[in-house]
Amino acid sequence: MEQELDVQAKRDLMYGELDLGSLSIFSGSFINYGYWGELDPAREISIEERTASQAELYRQVVSRLEPRAREALLELGSGLGVGAALVAREFSVHVSGLDRSAAQLARAAETNDFTLKEMPDRLSFHRGSVTEIPWGDGSFDGVYAVEMLQHVDDLAAVAREAHRVLKPGGRFAAATFFAPDGADTVPVVDLLETVASGVDIIRPVGEFAADLTAAGFEVTVTAIGEHVWRQFDRWVAQTEYRDSWGRNWLRCYENGWVDYYLVTGHR
Ligand SMILES: C[S@@+](CC[C@H](N)C(=O)[O-])C[C@H]1O[C@@H](n2cnc3c(N)ncnc32)[C@H](O)[C@@H]1O
Repeated sequence: MEQELDVQAKRDLMYGELDLGSLSIFSGSFINYGYWGELDPAREISIEERTASQAELYRQVVSRLEPRAREALLELGSGLGVGAALVAREFSVHVSGLDRSAAQLARAAETNDFTLKEMPDRLSFHRGSVTEIPWGDGSFDGVYAVEMLQHVDDLAAVAREAHRVLKPGGRFAAATFFAPDGADTVPVVDLLETVASGVDIIRPVGEFAADLTAAGFEVTVTAIGEHVWRQFDRWVAQTEYRDSWGRNWLRCYENGWVDYYLVTGHR
């Protein structure tokens, strides 16, 4: 238990005082590795392209929900809220963002001040944990998460809670890094600092798929690493983190130890 609290305190520090989203490996108030298209190898990646990659990851996830106009969606781990705002606007839906960090929620309120005033009934931010979602049964048409499940100790609880707050026929979609089933994850601990510290957990993707199935979802799993790792590594190489352990993500991917996944569930 003591160990668990230590890890949670590290995560809270990362999104509190340390303000992970302000690091140059991210941009545009997003905090994810991005879903990238083709890049011109002859020139540097622009900050606009970096931001666009992170926005595109949101589109890839939320389009899997096939949302209809005016439906109610819940985002798990909404961070600085720019993704939730993009989803509310581009998909014409209502988005409630949930995050456990008071600091992130304060930043989200400030960052999205204009959108919150412009469409107050379509975007809102709330404090709480994804393992105890503070809404009643059947509240949402869709639940999604972008690069946050790696921080959760109990993914079975997330699966149960997502199923509970969805209406019958509702959809779930999440993107983040997992290990391919059967992969050796031992080397990863020495190569990735956030895994060594316990801040990030890399588990076999099939374990989470099984959690969703047990909760009552019909599940699909798609590996999307070819759209993430090489391009993200090129971006990191352009930043002050070019000599950091962050370059090891690509090494882990190329060795088959880690991949990036889109996991969807139909209730
Ligand atoms: C890597 S950031 C991703 C933010 C956003 N989805 C994006 O792509 O820009 C992860 C976010 O999840 C939140 N988070 C981590 N664990 C959580 C939990 N158990 N419940 C709710 N939010 C959590 C963190 O506070 C942080 O804002």
